[in-house]
Amino acid sequence: MSGNPRRVVFGSDHAGYEMKRFLIEVVAGMKIEAEDLGAHGTSSVDYPDYAEAVAKRISNGTADVGVLVCGTGIGMDITANKFPGVRAALLYDDTTARCARMHNDANIAVFGGRTMTPQDAARRMRVFLEEPYEGERHNARLDKIRAIEKKNGK
Ligand code: RB5
Repeated sequence: MSGNPRRVVFGSDHAGYEMKRFLIEVVAGMKIEAEDLGAHGTSSVDYPDYAEAVAKRISNGTADVGVLVCGTGIGMDITANKFPGVRAALLYDDTTARCARMHNDANIAVFGGRTMTPQDAARRMRVFLEEPYEGERHNARLDKIRAIEKKNGK
């Protein structure tokens, strides 16, 4: 992801649905296009299905940034990071939101709908969408992640 994104793909399960809808409103206010890949309500669903839908889009290059929300964020994070090229980060505080971009060039922001306030998540998402990747010394580290993916057949 380079520069401010023009489009963000969103996914959630039932536990993250309300927070996701809130974050979509915030993104719309930033003049960024939002695409919601589900879930589309609060009936119980399985988070891996929605993590897969968003992570696939990042992995195949048809989107450059995603946002995922489940109850804790953990299930979404675990699933999304199975996809090559995906660097999904659970943004549990503001420093983490900044560093996930500056140091890790993270391309999916993950939130916990049951563990964070919508206001905290929105502030961290804004930071995540606006903060540039620093490059330099971090490039070699990201190359090592890519090498690990290759070694493991991803
Ligand atoms: C759903 O009850 C819950 O397990 C899910 O939203 C998430 O927190 C999993 O990591």
